Amino acid sequence: MTTTSSDHANVRAAELSKRSAEYRRRVNHALAERLPDLREPPQRLHEAMRYAVLGGGKRVRAIMVYAAADAAGCPQVNPDAAACAVELVHSYSLVHDDLPTMDDDDLRRGRPTCHRAFDEATALLAGDALQTLAFEVLSSDPSLGIATELRCRMLEVLSRAIGSQGMAGGQAIDLAATGRSLTLEELEGMHLRKTGALIRASVRLGALCASADEEALERLDAYARCVGLAFQIQDDVLDVEGETAVLGKAAGADSALGKPTYPSVLGLAESRRRALSLHERALARLSGFGASADTLRMLSEYVVTRKR
Ligand code: IPE
Ligand code: IPE
Ligand code: MG
Ligand code: MG
Ligand code: MG
Repeated sequence: MTTTSSDHANVRAAELSKRSAEYRRRVNHALAERLPDLREPPQRLHEAMRYAVLGGGKRVRAIMVYAAADAAGCPQVNPDAAACAVELVHSYSLVHDDLPTMDDDDLRRGRPTCHRAFDEATALLAGDALQTLAFEVLSSDPSLGIATELRCRMLEVLSRAIGSQGMAGGQAIDLAATGRSLTLEELEGMHLRKTGALIRASVRLGALCASADEEALERLDAYARCVGLAFQIQDDVLDVEGETAVLGKAAGADSALGKPTYPSVLGLAESRRRALSLHERALARLSGFGASADTLRMLSEYVVTRKR
């Protein structure tokens, strides 16, 4: 019997699923430990924080942290704190993204959005507190040991990635462009910021945990830039062709709001082609790495073939 390329793809997908399950279990446990106790006041805020973070999410960014640490060598410090920090920031960004003043969504990760399950003010504060918790974890988590210089570097990477030149800036461009059309260049700039920047930070933080040298950091960063952009292109594609029940969030929400997306500018087929070409470029950026980067390679493939 001959082995086809789709057989190979299935083997890689099964292997990634196994590796990811282990990293997901690890970060979920670390997050549950670091989030505030439900019995501590203010209880409603703590409940909303735990609701927004736990019980869903693919944890792609945390898995990127672990996979980048593996690719760069043997982790010198435990990547758990960095993995938690990026997922805390990501969850905060989703809580705020779903608010009526932004995308006004009712469903997230198969459940009511945070402001629907609680109220808008609580969701706003839960997002704020999740963001600051991310920085508290990176600056003081005992698992990071006494590497003060490393901590400062990590804090800088994360803060730059999510500020006005990164994720928050991308979200501002998204809101300002709603109902208008963007050039492809503007669209790419928006996606690189709103989603790409945190994915790039995740890979860099993981690599820093393994004391990667500058050259390795640059090559991994070039990989992450491609994957980060591809991630948001696929998110846009899934908004058009995905199903609400599978996505765990409302399909068709982008066109309903008049959001500028890859499919709205380039059409579905060309958007898919761009995502695949970014995956090819991401793989090329990893050519200098051996088998230690296989999880990153499989993640890149997953990003452009995922259904949710
Ligand atoms: C959704 O991110 C928001 C984007 C940045 C596109 P994910 O698709 O990673 O969401 P979860 O964490 O798995 O719910
Ligand atoms: C969200 O992009 C990006 C951030 C939260 C920073 P989207 O608005 O496309 O994410 P979804 O589709 O609601 O998950
Ligand atoms: Mg949005
Ligand atoms: Mg949204
Ligand atoms: Mg989307």
